[in-house]
Formats: sequence, structure tokens, C-alpha cells
Amino acid sequence: KSVLVINGPNLNLLGKREPEIYGHTTLDDIERMTKDHARSLGLGLGFVQSNHEGELIDLIQNAPQDHDGLVINAAAYTHTSVALMDAIKGVGLPCVEVHLSNVFSRESFRHTSYISLAATGVICGFGPKGYCLALDALAEIL
Ligand code: DQA
Repeated sequence: KSVLVINGPNLNLLGKREPEIYGHTTLDDIERMTKDHARSLGLGLGFVQSNHEGELIDLIQNAPQDHDGLVINAAAYTHTSVALMDAIKGVGLPCVEVHLSNVFSRESFRHTSYISLAATGVICGFGPKGYCLALDALAEIL
């Protein structure tokens, strides 16, 4: 079984982006950590990032060709994108929504997630570890 981890806009800046909120870990660090954890669970793993909504939709639509589940941190598109929600519903793969920060302890516009309407479950507030927790959940589901 294989999982595709999809990262949305500005997550390529992790490490230098608002470190008081997101910490000093880079997206490359998270990729390494997540790949190691996937290996220990016997899961294959793809790991991608895009700043472009349409490209994220293409990645979701093509995911079933090689993958059995999704982990998605849609970043700011979480709070705006009906199109990403529809894409996740459209492919029908189990999907864990992840956020590094606890979005519920932040601005109220972050309390609404279109992704949650399509996700199997949500993990937020545990930093990079959230990606590994999402894999644990998918390993059980798959
Ligand atoms: C985020 C939370 C979003 O509200 C924000 O727009 C992000 C990152 C997180 O991982 O905490 O870019 O998804």
C-alpha cells in the first residue's frame, strides 16, 4: 500500500516562515521523517508540494494511479478551496487532513476547513509529528 502526502502553498518556506508558529523544521526534514516512518509501517510514500491550486487538484486526481490513501496539508487553501474538497471527494481515497499548528487556537478564519468536509479525519497542533500520526491512522485504515 502507498500513501501520497500533498503539501499546499507556502509550506516550501518552512524553516524560515513564521518560526514562532511553524518552528524551524524544513519541508525536506518533514519529508525525510515521514518517509522513514512510512518505511517502518511498510507503506510506500510519495511526497509533493505545490503553491498552485490547479496543480494540487491534478495531484489529487492522479493519486489513485499509484496510491491508496492521502495525507493533505492544504495550508491556506484549506480555508478557501471548494475545488480541493471536490477533488478529494471525487477520488474517494481515505484522506487525513494535517496542520502543523492548532488552527483552532488561531484566527477565526482558520476555524473553517473545506478539506474537513472530505477528510476521513483531522490532525492539527502537533507540528511535524502530525504527518507521522496521519500515517499511523492510514496504516490502520488500509
Ligand atoms: C497550516 C495552517 C493554515 O491555516 C495556514 O494557512 C498554513 C499552514 C498549518 O500547517 O498549520 O499555511 O496548514
